Amino acid sequence: MNLFRKRSLEDFKQSVEKSGLKKELKAFDLAAIGIGAIVGTGIFVATGQGAHLAGPAVTISFVIAAITSALCALTYSELATIFPVAGSTYSYSYVAFGEIIAWIIGWDLILEYLVSAAAVASGWSGTLVGILNDYGIHLPAAIIKSPMSGGLVDLPAVLITVVVTWLLYLGVSESAKVNDIIVGVKIFVILVFIILGVTHINPAHYHPFAPYGVKGIMSGAAIIFFAFIGFDSVSTAAEEAANPNKDIPIGLAICMIAVIVLYISVAVILTGMVPFTSIDVNNALPGALSRIGINWGSSLVGVGAVLGMISTLLVTLYGQVRIFMVMSRDGLLPQSFSKVSKKHGTPELCTIITGVVTAVMAGFLPLDVIMDLCNIGTLFAFILVSLGIMILRKTMPDIERKFKCPGVPYTPILTIIFCIYLMASLPAVTWIRFAIWLVIGLCIYFVYGVKHSTLNK
Ligand code: ALA
Repeated sequence: MNLFRKRSLEDFKQSVEKSGLKKELKAFDLAAIGIGAIVGTGIFVATGQGAHLAGPAVTISFVIAAITSALCALTYSELATIFPVAGSTYSYSYVAFGEIIAWIIGWDLILEYLVSAAAVASGWSGTLVGILNDYGIHLPAAIIKSPMSGGLVDLPAVLITVVVTWLLYLGVSESAKVNDIIVGVKIFVILVFIILGVTHINPAHYHPFAPYGVKGIMSGAAIIFFAFIGFDSVSTAAEEAANPNKDIPIGLAICMIAVIVLYISVAVILTGMVPFTSIDVNNALPGALSRIGINWGSSLVGVGAVLGMISTLLVTLYGQVRIFMVMSRDGLLPQSFSKVSKKHGTPELCTIITGVVTAVMAGFLPLDVIMDLCNIGTLFAFILVSLGIMILRKTMPDIERKFKCPGVPYTPILTIIFCIYLMASLPAVTWIRFAIWLVIGLCIYFVYGVKHSTLNK
């Protein structure tokens, strides 16, 4: 039993050609997929939590999280243009490091995609409930809260997951069009927030700027990182890109720059509009607008946020389905998962399973637990990506890299330092949950994957 057996690049390219997915996405479509995945619960909901941890200095938390994500995106782009397939972190490690490492990474990516999808569904539900409350409609706690938060099930979160899974089931092109429209709505409402808020800034609200010091800023950054998760969905869609080597770096750059500018503007304006202690943790942006008396603005941003989070959910679930698909093609998960339907051109079984598991998590776990777990898993994945980039430069120096990460090894080393620092700022209980998750993954590998891997043949 060779746990470190590897896939060859050739073998890997063939499986890409065999996949049957359409190759029609351009740089702009990829940027839209990225923005669709990134802008969501993080900015609309987690900003409030970050502000309570860091005070007005949450702006610095945003900057730290943005630098970390931009560094990760740089290293990740190199990887994605070497391995233009769904789940590239997983795929590259299969070629570079061998099966067991690939499995661990693939398993870890479930935290980044599936668990983050659950977090988005849960944040969606919170924002929807906030809007309904504003209009005097109060749903019973039993059907809008998870058991750990005093309810029975978060039903809106479950329902939205079912709807979005159905869209994905129907196929990429329909879903991409829906995504494009919603991305437009999302950017529009953030701009509305910025324009309405900027004229209501009271400089007194910036004092004290960092009431909880560096520790507060770092805890804030560790939560806020969630708001940037999703940029690698651009690379995960590489298998469907018309020209991955060119479209991916450009698509990623467009999406990262747009997101960073929007987020930092929102943070500066939000903390200037209202005292940070009165920012609503469940409804940060719309809540701040109603506090300064702009109720129509609050409703508009709330509705836009609810619509916008649907696209986040869509693209995040999309990423997870593709990752499951490659893992099942390799035999580490049952191969029936990856069968692409002739009618819709999508892996139907994979899509349904992803939707069901996400709906269960979103319905029964509280948002903060899901978000912390998602962040630790994602940061861990990017540490492995950064290590991989450095190692691949040595072990596969001649392989074609249409995008080369600048400043190797310094850029990946810096990325690793930032990721470790953010991971260290997460609560201890999150580390314990993460360790349990990895152990469960290893058990599944030894019970199933090791025996069914296509490398056995
Ligand atoms: N970054 C995504 C969000 O904010 C996961 O919802």
